[in-house]
Amino acid sequence: MSETYRNLIGGKWVESATGTTFRNTNPADTSDVVGTFAASGPADIDEAAVAAKAGFEEWSRIPAPVRGDVLKRAGDLLTERKDELADGMTREMGKPLVETRGDVQEAIDTAYYAASEGRRLFSYAAPSELPQKMGVSIRRPAGIFGIITPWNFPIAVPSWKIFPALVCGDAVVWKPAEDTPWSAVKFVEILLEAGLPENVIQLVTGFGPEAGAPLTTHRWVTGISFTGSTAVGCKIAAACGEQAKLVSLEMGGKNAQLVLDDADIELALEGVLWGAFGTTGQRCTATSRLLLQTGIHDEFVDELVQRAEALVLGDGRKRGTDVGPLINEEARDKVAKYVRIGTDEGANLRTGGEIPADKRLAGGWFYRPTIFTGVEPAMRIAQEEIFGPLLSVLMVENLDHGIEVMNDVRYGLSSSIYTQDVNAAFQAIDRVDAGITYVNGPTIGAEAHYPFGGVKDTGNGHREGGWPVYDFFSDLKTVYVDYSGRLQRTQIDT
Ligand code: NAI
Ligand code: MG
Repeated sequence: MSETYRNLIGGKWVESATGTTFRNTNPADTSDVVGTFAASGPADIDEAAVAAKAGFEEWSRIPAPVRGDVLKRAGDLLTERKDELADGMTREMGKPLVETRGDVQEAIDTAYYAASEGRRLFSYAAPSELPQKMGVSIRRPAGIFGIITPWNFPIAVPSWKIFPALVCGDAVVWKPAEDTPWSAVKFVEILLEAGLPENVIQLVTGFGPEAGAPLTTHRWVTGISFTGSTAVGCKIAAACGEQAKLVSLEMGGKNAQLVLDDADIELALEGVLWGAFGTTGQRCTATSRLLLQTGIHDEFVDELVQRAEALVLGDGRKRGTDVGPLINEEARDKVAKYVRIGTDEGANLRTGGEIPADKRLAGGWFYRPTIFTGVEPAMRIAQEEIFGPLLSVLMVENLDHGIEVMNDVRYGLSSSIYTQDVNAAFQAIDRVDAGITYVNGPTIGAEAHYPFGGVKDTGNGHREGGWPVYDFFSDLKTVYVDYSGRLQRTQIDT
Protein backbone atom coordinates (compact mmCIF):
# COMPACT_ATOMS: atom_id res chain seq x y z
CA MET A 1 0.00 0.00 0.00
CA SER A 2 1.41 3.34 -0.93
CA GLU A 3 0.50 6.71 0.53
CA THR A 4 0.81 10.26 -0.74
CA TYR A 5 2.88 12.68 1.31
CA ARG A 6 3.09 16.44 1.07
CA ASN A 7 5.40 19.28 2.03
CA LEU A 8 5.32 20.80 5.50
CA ILE A 9 5.14 24.58 5.30
CA GLY A 10 4.05 26.79 8.18
CA GLY A 11 2.87 23.77 10.14
CA LYS A 12 0.53 22.56 7.37
CA TRP A 13 0.92 19.63 5.02
CA VAL A 14 0.53 21.20 1.59
CA GLU A 15 0.74 20.14 -2.01
CA SER A 16 3.58 21.61 -3.99
CA ALA A 17 2.94 24.66 -6.18
CA THR A 18 4.26 22.67 -9.16
CA GLY A 19 1.37 20.22 -8.81
CA THR A 20 3.76 17.41 -9.71
CA THR A 21 4.77 14.42 -7.67
CA PHE A 22 7.25 11.55 -7.80
CA ARG A 23 7.13 7.96 -6.61
CA ASN A 24 9.80 6.49 -4.40
CA THR A 25 10.41 2.76 -4.54
CA ASN A 26 12.13 0.23 -2.30
CA PRO A 27 15.65 -0.40 -3.67
CA ALA A 28 15.50 -4.06 -2.58
CA ASP A 29 12.26 -4.60 -4.50
CA THR A 30 11.29 -1.88 -6.92
CA SER A 31 7.73 -3.18 -7.25
CA ASP A 32 7.21 -1.95 -3.69
CA VAL A 33 6.25 1.74 -3.82
CA VAL A 34 7.17 3.50 -0.56
CA GLY A 35 5.07 6.55 -1.34
CA THR A 36 4.28 9.46 -3.61
CA PHE A 37 5.90 12.79 -2.74
CA ALA A 38 5.79 16.42 -3.82
CA ALA A 39 8.23 17.33 -6.61
CA SER A 40 8.68 20.90 -5.44
CA GLY A 41 10.03 23.98 -7.19
CA PRO A 42 11.17 27.54 -6.47
CA ALA A 43 7.67 28.75 -5.49
CA ASP A 44 7.55 26.16 -2.71
CA ILE A 45 10.95 27.26 -1.44
CA ASP A 46 9.72 30.84 -1.45
CA GLU A 47 6.64 29.96 0.61
CA ALA A 48 8.79 27.95 2.96
CA ALA A 49 11.14 30.90 3.43
CA VAL A 50 8.19 33.18 4.28
CA ALA A 51 7.03 30.74 6.94
CA ALA A 52 10.58 30.30 8.23
CA LYS A 53 10.92 34.05 8.62
CA ALA A 54 7.91 34.11 10.92
CA GLY A 55 9.23 31.01 12.67
CA PHE A 56 12.57 32.66 13.27
CA GLU A 57 10.94 35.72 14.85
CA GLU A 58 9.22 33.52 17.39
CA TRP A 59 11.79 30.80 18.02
CA SER A 60 14.83 33.05 18.31
CA ARG A 61 13.22 34.75 21.32
CA ILE A 62 12.69 31.55 23.25
CA PRO A 63 15.51 30.87 25.75
CA ALA A 64 18.01 28.31 24.53
CA PRO A 65 17.45 25.89 27.47
CA VAL A 66 13.72 25.85 26.63
CA ARG A 67 14.55 25.19 22.98
CA GLY A 68 16.74 22.37 24.24
CA ASP A 69 13.74 20.82 26.02
CA VAL A 70 12.05 20.35 22.63
CA LEU A 71 15.09 18.41 21.45
CA LYS A 72 14.96 16.30 24.59
CA ARG A 73 11.38 15.31 23.75
CA ALA A 74 12.38 14.66 20.14
CA GLY A 75 15.06 12.30 21.45
CA ASP A 76 12.46 10.52 23.60
CA LEU A 77 10.10 10.11 20.61
CA LEU A 78 12.91 8.83 18.39
CA THR A 79 13.71 6.30 21.11
CA GLU A 80 10.09 5.14 21.34
CA ARG A 81 9.84 4.78 17.55
CA LYS A 82 13.29 3.41 16.84
CA ASP A 83 12.08 0.06 15.45
CA GLU A 84 9.24 1.47 13.40
CA LEU A 85 11.49 4.14 11.92
CA ALA A 86 14.29 1.69 11.17
CA ASP A 87 11.87 -0.60 9.35
CA GLY A 88 10.64 2.22 7.11
CA MET A 89 14.15 3.54 6.53
CA THR A 90 15.40 0.13 5.43
CA ARG A 91 12.42 -0.16 3.12
CA GLU A 92 13.28 3.22 1.70
CA MET A 93 17.08 3.04 1.35
CA GLY A 94 18.07 -0.59 1.74
CA LYS A 95 20.68 -0.95 4.47
CA PRO A 96 20.04 -3.74 7.01
CA LEU A 97 17.89 -3.04 10.07
CA VAL A 98 20.84 -3.20 12.42
CA GLU A 99 22.25 -0.23 10.51
CA THR A 100 19.06 1.81 10.26
CA ARG A 101 18.58 1.25 14.00
CA GLY A 102 22.07 2.67 14.40
CA ASP A 103 21.09 5.59 12.18
CA VAL A 104 18.18 6.42 14.50
CA GLN A 105 20.38 5.92 17.56
CA GLU A 106 22.81 8.50 16.21
CA ALA A 107 19.93 10.97 15.94
CA ILE A 108 18.87 10.12 19.51
CA ASP A 109 22.40 10.77 20.77
CA THR A 110 22.51 14.01 18.78
CA ALA A 111 19.13 15.09 20.18
CA TYR A 112 20.21 14.59 23.79
CA TYR A 113 23.53 16.27 23.14
CA ALA A 114 21.70 19.22 21.54
CA ALA A 115 19.27 19.40 24.46
CA SER A 116 22.17 19.74 26.87
CA GLU A 117 23.87 22.29 24.63
CA GLY A 118 20.84 24.52 25.20
CA ARG A 119 22.26 25.06 28.70
CA ARG A 120 25.78 25.77 27.45
CA LEU A 121 26.17 27.46 24.06
CA PHE A 122 29.31 28.89 25.61
CA SER A 123 30.93 31.96 24.23
CA TYR A 124 33.77 33.74 26.00
CA ALA A 125 34.85 36.76 27.95
CA ALA A 126 38.35 38.21 28.16
CA PRO A 127 39.80 41.06 30.21
CA SER A 128 39.68 44.43 28.48
CA GLU A 129 42.94 46.31 27.88
CA LEU A 130 41.37 49.44 29.42
CA PRO A 131 40.36 50.04 33.02
CA GLN A 132 36.70 49.96 33.99
CA LYS A 133 35.71 48.34 30.77
CA MET A 134 34.29 44.92 30.14
CA GLY A 135 34.32 42.86 26.96
CA VAL A 136 32.25 39.72 26.42
CA SER A 137 30.98 37.82 23.42
CA ILE A 138 27.46 36.47 23.36
CA ARG A 139 25.87 33.96 21.01
CA ARG A 140 22.81 34.92 18.99
CA PRO A 141 20.53 32.98 16.65
CA ALA A 142 21.82 33.41 13.08
CA GLY A 143 18.70 33.21 10.91
CA ILE A 144 17.14 30.83 8.40
CA PHE A 145 19.17 27.80 7.35
CA GLY A 146 18.72 25.69 4.23
CA ILE A 147 19.48 22.05 4.96
CA ILE A 148 20.29 19.79 1.99
CA THR A 149 20.91 16.15 2.83
CA PRO A 150 21.76 12.80 1.20
CA TRP A 151 19.94 9.48 1.47
CA ASN A 152 22.60 7.24 3.01
CA PHE A 153 21.88 8.38 6.58
CA PRO A 154 18.28 9.52 6.18
CA ILE A 155 17.80 10.47 9.85
CA ALA A 156 21.29 10.74 11.36
CA VAL A 157 22.76 13.27 8.93
CA PRO A 158 19.72 15.59 9.05
CA SER A 159 19.83 15.41 12.86
CA TRP A 160 23.48 16.56 12.86
CA LYS A 161 22.38 19.73 11.11
CA ILE A 162 18.81 20.41 12.15
CA PHE A 163 19.11 19.81 15.91
CA PRO A 164 22.03 22.22 16.43
CA ALA A 165 20.33 24.81 14.19
CA LEU A 166 17.18 24.57 16.32
CA VAL A 167 18.99 24.82 19.65
CA CYS A 168 20.78 27.90 18.33
CA GLY A 169 17.37 29.50 17.68
CA ASP A 170 17.41 29.30 13.89
CA ALA A 171 14.54 28.37 11.57
CA VAL A 172 15.00 25.64 8.98
CA VAL A 173 13.97 24.87 5.40
CA TRP A 174 14.92 21.27 4.66
CA LYS A 175 15.26 19.71 1.22
CA PRO A 176 15.95 16.02 1.89
CA ALA A 177 17.31 13.58 -0.69
CA GLU A 178 14.83 12.50 -3.35
CA ASP A 179 15.60 8.88 -2.41
CA THR A 180 14.53 9.20 1.24
CA PRO A 181 11.58 11.59 1.56
CA TRP A 182 9.57 9.19 3.77
CA SER A 183 12.24 9.28 6.47
CA ALA A 184 12.18 13.07 6.26
CA VAL A 185 8.40 13.21 6.79
CA LYS A 186 8.71 11.01 9.88
CA PHE A 187 11.54 13.14 11.21
CA VAL A 188 9.59 16.41 11.02
CA GLU A 189 6.47 14.75 12.43
CA ILE A 190 8.50 13.94 15.52
CA LEU A 191 9.76 17.51 15.85
CA LEU A 192 6.20 18.86 15.67
CA GLU A 193 5.03 16.35 18.25
CA ALA A 194 7.95 17.31 20.45
CA GLY A 195 6.50 20.83 20.56
CA LEU A 196 8.45 22.72 17.94
CA PRO A 197 6.38 25.79 16.96
CA GLU A 198 4.85 25.25 13.54
CA ASN A 199 6.78 27.77 11.47
CA VAL A 200 10.21 26.77 12.68
CA ILE A 201 10.78 23.82 10.35
CA GLN A 202 9.65 23.48 6.75
CA LEU A 203 10.05 20.32 4.71
CA VAL A 204 10.20 20.72 0.94
CA THR A 205 10.70 17.46 -0.97
CA GLY A 206 11.91 17.07 -4.53
CA PHE A 207 14.98 17.04 -6.71
CA GLY A 208 18.25 18.93 -6.46
CA PRO A 209 18.14 21.37 -9.38
CA GLU A 210 14.41 22.19 -8.95
CA ALA A 211 13.97 22.23 -5.17
CA GLY A 212 17.52 22.37 -3.77
CA ALA A 213 19.09 25.05 -5.95
CA PRO A 214 16.45 27.77 -5.22
CA LEU A 215 17.17 27.35 -1.53
CA THR A 216 20.82 28.23 -2.13
CA THR A 217 19.90 31.49 -3.85
CA HIS A 218 16.94 32.63 -1.74
CA ARG A 219 17.74 36.03 -0.30
CA TRP A 220 16.28 35.26 3.14
CA VAL A 221 18.37 32.17 3.64
CA THR A 222 21.33 32.92 5.92
CA GLY A 223 23.29 29.78 5.16
CA ILE A 224 23.29 26.28 3.77
CA SER A 225 24.43 23.09 5.43
CA PHE A 226 25.02 20.38 2.84
CA THR A 227 26.12 16.75 2.75
CA GLY A 228 26.50 14.96 -0.56
CA SER A 229 28.76 14.83 -3.58
CA THR A 230 31.71 17.15 -4.08
CA ALA A 231 30.38 18.23 -7.48
CA VAL A 232 27.06 19.43 -6.05
CA GLY A 233 28.68 20.85 -2.91
CA CYS A 234 30.97 23.06 -4.97
CA LYS A 235 28.01 24.34 -7.01
CA ILE A 236 26.19 25.19 -3.80
CA ALA A 237 29.25 26.95 -2.42
CA ALA A 238 29.47 29.05 -5.59
CA ALA A 239 25.79 30.03 -5.32
CA CYS A 240 26.24 30.89 -1.64
CA GLY A 241 29.35 32.92 -2.47
CA GLU A 242 27.34 35.19 -4.76
CA GLN A 243 25.26 36.34 -1.80
CA ALA A 244 27.83 35.92 0.98
CA LYS A 245 25.80 33.15 2.58
CA LEU A 246 27.33 30.85 5.14
CA VAL A 247 27.98 27.38 3.78
CA SER A 248 29.07 24.17 5.46
CA LEU A 249 29.97 21.28 3.18
CA GLU A 250 30.47 17.59 3.95
CA MET A 251 31.37 15.84 0.73
CA GLY A 252 33.18 12.90 -0.76
CA GLY A 253 35.77 10.48 0.55
CA LYS A 254 38.25 7.89 -0.67
CA ASN A 255 39.11 6.48 2.71
CA ALA A 256 41.93 4.03 3.27
CA GLN A 257 42.62 1.37 5.85
CA LEU A 258 46.35 0.68 6.24
CA VAL A 259 47.34 -2.69 7.68
CA LEU A 260 50.97 -3.11 8.73
CA ASP A 261 52.68 -6.49 9.00
CA ASP A 262 52.54 -6.44 12.80
CA ALA A 263 48.77 -5.83 12.97
CA ASP A 264 46.17 -8.03 14.64
CA ILE A 265 45.07 -9.58 11.37
CA GLU A 266 41.72 -10.91 12.58
CA LEU A 267 40.78 -7.46 13.87
CA ALA A 268 41.88 -5.83 10.62
CA LEU A 269 39.84 -8.31 8.57
CA GLU A 270 36.69 -7.66 10.57
CA GLY A 271 37.35 -3.94 10.29
CA VAL A 272 37.70 -3.82 6.53
CA LEU A 273 34.67 -6.05 5.92
CA TRP A 274 32.52 -3.67 7.95
CA GLY A 275 34.20 -0.54 6.58
CA ALA A 276 34.03 -1.54 2.92
CA PHE A 277 30.72 -3.38 2.66
CA GLY A 278 28.62 -1.93 5.50
CA THR A 279 25.85 0.25 4.01
CA THR A 280 26.84 -1.46 0.71
CA GLY A 281 29.88 0.83 0.67
CA GLN A 282 27.62 3.87 0.44
CA ARG A 283 29.05 5.95 3.25
CA CYS A 284 31.20 9.03 2.93
CA THR A 285 33.51 7.29 5.43
CA ALA A 286 33.42 3.87 3.69
CA THR A 287 36.72 2.05 3.29
CA SER A 288 37.31 2.08 -0.44
CA ARG A 289 41.08 1.50 -0.38
CA LEU A 290 42.86 -1.20 1.56
CA LEU A 291 46.61 -0.68 1.90
CA LEU A 292 48.39 -3.90 2.84
CA GLN A 293 52.04 -4.15 3.77
CA THR A 294 53.93 -6.67 1.61
CA GLY A 295 54.49 -9.28 4.35
CA ILE A 296 50.82 -9.97 5.00
CA HIS A 297 49.36 -9.02 1.63
CA ASP A 298 48.68 -12.38 -0.01
CA GLU A 299 47.37 -14.17 3.03
CA PHE A 300 45.18 -11.23 4.00
CA VAL A 301 43.65 -10.97 0.55
CA ASP A 302 42.85 -14.70 0.37
CA GLU A 303 41.01 -14.60 3.68
CA LEU A 304 39.25 -11.33 2.85
CA VAL A 305 37.98 -12.63 -0.48
CA GLN A 306 36.54 -15.71 1.22
CA ARG A 307 34.76 -13.64 3.81
CA ALA A 308 33.45 -11.15 1.26
CA GLU A 309 31.99 -14.05 -0.73
CA ALA A 310 30.27 -15.32 2.41
CA LEU A 311 28.39 -12.04 2.97
CA VAL A 312 24.66 -12.56 2.49
CA LEU A 313 23.02 -10.14 0.07
CA GLY A 314 19.35 -9.44 0.47
CA ASP A 315 16.49 -7.35 1.70
CA GLY A 316 17.76 -5.46 4.73
CA ARG A 317 14.48 -6.21 6.51
CA LYS A 318 15.15 -9.95 6.39
CA ARG A 319 17.06 -11.60 9.19
CA GLY A 320 20.50 -12.77 8.16
CA THR A 321 21.10 -10.11 5.50
CA ASP A 322 24.60 -8.63 5.67
CA VAL A 323 24.53 -6.37 2.64
CA GLY A 324 21.54 -4.59 1.10
CA PRO A 325 21.09 -3.16 -2.40
CA LEU A 326 22.52 0.00 -3.90
CA ILE A 327 20.21 3.00 -3.57
CA ASN A 328 19.08 3.13 -7.21
CA GLU A 329 19.85 2.08 -10.75
CA GLU A 330 22.22 4.95 -11.39
CA ALA A 331 24.28 4.04 -8.32
CA ARG A 332 24.52 0.42 -9.40
CA ASP A 333 25.48 1.44 -12.94
CA LYS A 334 28.22 3.61 -11.45
CA VAL A 335 29.72 0.61 -9.65
CA ALA A 336 29.54 -1.51 -12.81
CA LYS A 337 31.21 1.31 -14.73
CA TYR A 338 34.11 1.38 -12.27
CA VAL A 339 34.48 -2.39 -12.52
CA ARG A 340 35.06 -1.91 -16.25
CA ILE A 341 37.44 0.98 -15.60
CA GLY A 342 39.43 -1.06 -13.06
CA THR A 343 39.66 -4.02 -15.40
CA ASP A 344 40.76 -1.81 -18.29
CA GLU A 345 43.37 -0.17 -16.06
CA GLY A 346 44.89 -3.59 -15.45
CA ALA A 347 43.79 -4.24 -11.88
CA ASN A 348 42.97 -7.81 -10.88
CA LEU A 349 39.29 -8.50 -10.18
CA ARG A 350 39.42 -11.01 -7.33
CA THR A 351 35.74 -11.34 -6.52
CA GLY A 352 32.38 -9.78 -7.36
CA GLY A 353 32.25 -7.49 -10.35
CA GLU A 354 28.74 -8.51 -11.29
CA ILE A 355 25.06 -8.41 -10.47
CA PRO A 356 24.21 -11.50 -8.38
CA ALA A 357 22.66 -14.33 -10.37
CA ASP A 358 20.23 -15.20 -7.55
CA LYS A 359 16.68 -14.74 -8.92
CA ARG A 360 15.37 -13.65 -5.51
CA LEU A 361 17.51 -10.53 -5.82
CA ALA A 362 16.41 -9.65 -9.35
CA GLY A 363 13.86 -7.06 -8.20
CA GLY A 364 16.40 -4.83 -6.48
CA TRP A 365 19.61 -2.90 -7.15
CA PHE A 366 21.97 -5.54 -5.81
CA TYR A 367 25.64 -5.89 -6.72
CA ARG A 368 28.15 -8.37 -5.42
CA PRO A 369 30.83 -7.19 -3.00
CA THR A 370 33.80 -6.54 -5.26
CA ILE A 371 37.53 -6.63 -4.59
CA PHE A 372 40.32 -5.55 -6.94
CA THR A 373 43.96 -6.33 -6.13
CA GLY A 374 47.10 -5.10 -7.84
CA VAL A 375 45.68 -1.59 -7.78
CA GLU A 376 48.17 1.22 -8.38
CA PRO A 377 47.76 4.60 -6.65
CA ALA A 378 47.19 6.49 -9.91
CA MET A 379 44.36 4.25 -11.13
CA ARG A 380 40.90 5.78 -11.19
CA ILE A 381 39.55 3.04 -8.89
CA ALA A 382 42.15 4.22 -6.35
CA GLN A 383 41.33 7.90 -6.79
CA GLU A 384 37.61 8.43 -7.43
CA GLU A 385 34.66 8.06 -5.08
CA ILE A 386 32.58 5.11 -6.27
CA PHE A 387 30.07 4.90 -3.39
CA GLY A 388 29.40 1.21 -3.63
CA PRO A 389 30.69 -2.20 -2.58
CA LEU A 390 34.00 -1.92 -4.43
CA LEU A 391 37.27 -2.23 -2.54
CA SER A 392 40.65 -1.46 -4.15
CA VAL A 393 43.61 -3.26 -2.57
CA LEU A 394 47.05 -1.65 -2.88
CA MET A 395 50.36 -3.08 -1.72
CA VAL A 396 52.69 -0.82 0.31
CA GLU A 397 56.30 -1.31 1.42
CA ASN A 398 56.18 0.22 4.88
CA LEU A 399 54.59 2.89 7.06
CA ASP A 400 56.04 5.83 5.11
CA HIS A 401 54.92 4.42 1.80
CA GLY A 402 51.49 3.65 3.27
CA ILE A 403 51.01 7.21 4.48
CA GLU A 404 52.21 8.60 1.16
CA VAL A 405 49.68 6.48 -0.77
CA MET A 406 46.95 7.26 1.74
CA ASN A 407 47.42 11.00 1.25
CA ASP A 408 47.65 10.81 -2.52
CA VAL A 409 43.95 11.48 -3.21
CA ARG A 410 41.86 14.64 -3.50
CA TYR A 411 39.73 13.72 -0.49
CA GLY A 412 40.52 13.63 3.23
CA LEU A 413 37.65 12.39 5.36
CA SER A 414 38.44 9.21 7.28
CA SER A 415 41.46 6.95 7.63
CA SER A 416 42.52 3.95 9.63
CA ILE A 417 45.72 2.19 10.62
CA TYR A 418 46.05 -1.27 12.08
CA THR A 419 49.32 -1.85 13.93
CA GLN A 420 50.61 -2.89 17.35
CA ASP A 421 53.44 -0.38 17.11
CA VAL A 422 52.61 2.72 19.09
CA ASN A 423 55.19 4.81 17.22
CA ALA A 424 53.73 3.89 13.85
CA ALA A 425 50.23 4.70 15.08
CA PHE A 426 51.21 8.14 16.34
CA GLN A 427 53.15 8.93 13.17
CA ALA A 428 50.01 8.17 11.19
CA ILE A 429 47.96 10.38 13.50
CA ASP A 430 50.40 13.22 12.79
CA ARG A 431 50.86 12.75 9.07
CA VAL A 432 47.66 11.41 7.51
CA ASP A 433 45.71 14.26 5.88
CA ALA A 434 42.18 13.48 7.03
CA GLY A 435 39.56 14.78 9.41
CA ILE A 436 39.35 11.40 11.16
CA THR A 437 42.01 8.79 11.93
CA TYR A 438 41.18 5.51 13.61
CA VAL A 439 43.81 3.34 15.25
CA ASN A 440 42.84 -0.33 15.19
CA GLY A 441 39.29 0.44 14.13
CA PRO A 442 37.58 0.72 10.71
CA THR A 443 37.10 4.03 8.88
CA ILE A 444 33.40 4.22 9.78
CA GLY A 445 31.50 4.88 13.00
CA ALA A 446 31.32 8.50 14.13
CA GLU A 447 30.14 9.39 17.63
CA ALA A 448 27.73 12.30 18.06
CA HIS A 449 29.86 14.34 20.45
CA TYR A 450 33.10 14.45 18.44
CA PRO A 451 33.83 16.76 15.50
CA PHE A 452 33.12 15.15 12.13
CA GLY A 453 34.37 16.35 8.77
CA GLY A 454 37.29 16.30 6.42
CA VAL A 455 40.06 18.19 4.68
CA LYS A 456 40.90 18.83 1.02
CA ASP A 457 37.95 18.27 -1.37
CA THR A 458 35.91 16.61 1.38
CA GLY A 459 34.84 19.86 2.99
CA ASN A 460 35.31 23.56 3.47
CA GLY A 461 36.68 23.56 7.00
CA HIS A 462 33.50 23.17 9.02
CA ARG A 463 32.82 20.30 11.37
CA GLU A 464 29.59 18.63 12.41
CA GLY A 465 29.09 16.77 15.67
CA GLY A 466 30.37 17.94 19.04
CA TRP A 467 30.26 21.67 19.73
CA PRO A 468 32.00 23.12 16.62
CA VAL A 469 28.74 22.83 14.67
CA TYR A 470 27.12 25.28 17.11
CA ASP A 471 29.58 27.89 15.89
CA PHE A 472 28.26 27.50 12.38
CA PHE A 473 24.61 27.88 13.37
CA SER A 474 24.99 30.89 15.66
CA ASP A 475 26.45 34.37 15.51
CA LEU A 476 28.86 35.88 17.97
CA LYS A 477 28.24 39.43 19.06
CA THR A 478 30.93 41.20 21.04
CA VAL A 479 29.64 43.55 23.73
CA TYR A 480 31.84 46.26 25.24
CA VAL A 481 30.70 48.05 28.38
CA ASP A 482 32.69 51.07 29.45
CA TYR A 483 31.81 52.00 33.01
CA SER A 484 34.63 54.54 33.54
CA GLY A 485 32.42 57.53 32.73
CA ARG A 486 35.02 59.03 30.36
CA LEU A 487 36.01 58.56 26.73
CA GLN A 488 38.61 55.78 26.61
CA ARG A 489 40.17 55.32 23.22
CA THR A 490 41.53 51.89 22.32
CA GLN A 491 44.89 51.73 20.55
CA ILE A 492 45.39 55.51 20.71
CA ASP A 493 48.61 56.76 22.39
CA THR A 494 47.99 59.15 25.23
P1 NAI B 1 24.02 14.57 -4.63
O1 NAI B 1 25.19 15.35 -4.15
O2 NAI B 1 23.57 14.77 -6.01
O3 NAI B 1 22.76 14.87 -3.69
C1 NAI B 1 22.82 15.27 -2.34
C2 NAI B 1 21.69 16.25 -2.06
O4 NAI B 1 21.88 17.44 -2.84
C3 NAI B 1 20.30 15.73 -2.46
O5 NAI B 1 19.34 16.19 -1.54
C4 NAI B 1 20.09 16.38 -3.81
O6 NAI B 1 18.74 16.51 -4.17
C5 NAI B 1 20.72 17.72 -3.61
N1 NAI B 1 21.12 18.40 -4.83
C6 NAI B 1 21.52 17.83 -6.01
N2 NAI B 1 21.80 18.78 -6.91
C7 NAI B 1 21.60 19.98 -6.32
C8 NAI B 1 21.72 21.34 -6.74
N3 NAI B 1 22.13 21.65 -7.95
N4 NAI B 1 21.44 22.30 -5.85
C9 NAI B 1 21.04 22.01 -4.60
N5 NAI B 1 20.90 20.75 -4.15
C10 NAI B 1 21.17 19.74 -4.99
O7 NAI B 1 24.31 13.04 -4.35
P2 NAI B 1 23.57 11.75 -4.95
O8 NAI B 1 23.04 12.02 -6.31
O9 NAI B 1 22.64 11.27 -3.93
O10 NAI B 1 24.82 10.77 -5.03
C11 NAI B 1 25.79 10.94 -6.04
C12 NAI B 1 27.17 10.73 -5.47
O11 NAI B 1 27.43 11.66 -4.43
C13 NAI B 1 27.39 9.39 -4.81
O12 NAI B 1 27.67 8.38 -5.71
C14 NAI B 1 28.54 9.72 -3.89
O13 NAI B 1 29.74 9.68 -4.62
C15 NAI B 1 28.26 11.12 -3.44
N6 NAI B 1 27.57 11.19 -2.14
C16 NAI B 1 28.28 11.41 -1.01
C17 NAI B 1 27.65 11.42 0.22
C18 NAI B 1 28.38 11.64 1.47
O14 NAI B 1 27.93 11.14 2.51
N7 NAI B 1 29.45 12.39 1.46
C19 NAI B 1 26.21 11.18 0.35
C20 NAI B 1 25.53 11.01 -0.91
C21 NAI B 1 26.21 11.01 -2.08
MG1 MG C 1 14.03 4.77 -3.71
